[in-house]
Amino acid sequence: MCGIVSYVGEKQARPILVGGLKQLEYRGYDSAGIAVQNGPKISCQRSVGKIIELEKKISSLDMDGTMGIAHTRWATHGEASEHNAHPHTDQEQRVFIVHNGIIENYAFLKKKLQKEGCRFYSETDTEVLAHLVGIQFDGDLAEAVRKTMSQVEGTFGIAVIHRDVPGEIVVARRGSPLVIGLSDEGHFAASDVSAMVRYTNQVIHLQDNELATLRKDDFLISTARAEPIQRSIETVEWHAEDAELNGFPHFMLKEIYEQPETVMNAMRGRLELGEGVPKLGGITPVWEELKKCRHLVIVACGTSYYAGSVGRYVFEKLTDIDVEVEVASEFRYRKLNFPPNTFIIALSQSGETADTLAAIREAKRKGARLLGIVNVVGSSISRETEAGIYNHAGPEIGVASTKIFTSQLTILILLALLLGRHQNLSLTEGAETIRALQKLPEQIRKILSQANHIEAIAEKYHTCRNWLFLGRKFNYPIAMEGALKLKEVSYIHAEGYAAGEMKHGPIALITPEMPTVAILPKDDMYEKMISNIQEIKSRRGPVIAITTEGNKEIGEVADEVIEIPPTLDFLNPILAVVPCQLLAYYCANLLNRDIDKPRNLAKSVTVE
Ligand code: AGP
Repeated sequence: MCGIVSYVGEKQARPILVGGLKQLEYRGYDSAGIAVQNGPKISCQRSVGKIIELEKKISSLDMDGTMGIAHTRWATHGEASEHNAHPHTDQEQRVFIVHNGIIENYAFLKKKLQKEGCRFYSETDTEVLAHLVGIQFDGDLAEAVRKTMSQVEGTFGIAVIHRDVPGEIVVARRGSPLVIGLSDEGHFAASDVSAMVRYTNQVIHLQDNELATLRKDDFLISTARAEPIQRSIETVEWHAEDAELNGFPHFMLKEIYEQPETVMNAMRGRLELGEGVPKLGGITPVWEELKKCRHLVIVACGTSYYAGSVGRYVFEKLTDIDVEVEVASEFRYRKLNFPPNTFIIALSQSGETADTLAAIREAKRKGARLLGIVNVVGSSISRETEAGIYNHAGPEIGVASTKIFTSQLTILILLALLLGRHQNLSLTEGAETIRALQKLPEQIRKILSQANHIEAIAEKYHTCRNWLFLGRKFNYPIAMEGALKLKEVSYIHAEGYAAGEMKHGPIALITPEMPTVAILPKDDMYEKMISNIQEIKSRRGPVIAITTEGNKEIGEVADEVIEIPPTLDFLNPILAVVPCQLLAYYCANLLNRDIDKPRNLAKSVTVE
């Protein structure tokens, strides 16, 4: 978790660093800090809380300087306090360092350093890095960082400055993301391009065990053995405005409203109506083997896992492939047998989720082939998989994932359709699916036009402390995703259940104070869902039904009705999730929650 940003150039560093931190705040937001260097002088400030607290604290201070480093924290070692906030420093206060990741052998290193006379001021793992760099510095900062890297185990993205080396920042990574930004006005390094996209779209993704020395006019990338590396420069696709609210009160709402566009982007240039087949250029390198695949395992976490769970039903409908979906953090504990040509699909918005990365590394060890469906270009998962498909959905800033979920569903459907068309799926079925996919953006717009109606429902039920979400088949994962969204942003307790499971336990909870969101489009599960609703109504539980438009009889059993346009059964989840997102958003808003940065969460979960 955590976000780091650094800059060296001709502009004042403070506003660049604070602006960068604001863009990275989604990565963690319990404390923050900044160090600005001006010749041999380094001014360092830290504060508890969001970036705005740091900004207030430093607003009247003299922090002139054209280089510096900054950090926003999601606590792992030690509570969120000023003394645990980064930058951390060595004994002599000559080295200043910001770190994203976890130093696994820090306890051992700390004891050793304490025996050598180092005094520690924080409970963090990061502080050992500062001491190690300080002790090993003999005029060459990159070399001191290199020596430090060889002693630590774990993950890091770091930026380091030293009083004796004005004009130079050394950055390094192992396991945590780090991007270098190049511009005529200086050089940047950050956990994510969003921190620098206002100044440059020319970036280089640093790879594991690499370092870079950044100066105003030049930069040098090298290996841990000090061998220089040439790396090509990439152009970032998105712009600073993509990471702005543009009139919306919250990123979550903005991103919900972006879905007609992001679902379209997931399909753009990928649909071939005449052939009834999608084109997915990103999987070309593995296509020959993928065509023969009979066993697929989808690994993911959180919302991405629920997208994968819908994906399983879709693959089973459109292909003859056996599909498993695994929560990435549990994947390593399973004794899975991979028949030849087993493919793993890692689904991840950030491409940096530690559990998902660990799962694909384990799968690779066991001989599986790796595909990624990832939003962040150049992220670790995109680099560690053999081939993959990008969402092209632009940055998702709200911690609660919304637009990426529908984008992931769209891509999974395209992939299933592609494989299905090379198996038994007919041209007619292929073309029918493509036609239905093309209608989705407009259909999502239609759902969004009911926002006031959904807000009114939220108004009525947002004080209920417990909610239930029910669905079957394609929409069972939507029930789980709907419950997750509500929990994350409103802190209301919610459970997502397979509707058929309700009678095996959760029905005991039903009271007039516990609303149930029932997801029942007019498909082959509809009648069974109606029976479940009747069971709830007999116990006086309020029901909010999400159903296909034109369904007249639903009003007789449900208290509230939200309509979604008609589509193919396996496309319903893309539509049905939108009202769930809006319900969660409006409940959270009415409860005055911190919607884009809910308590205890972080956007990019880079710890296991
Ligand atoms: C979604 O709303 C969550 N905040 C979270 O569950 C997220 O989906 C999960 O951490 C996985 O992230 P990823 O897609 O970046 O791998």
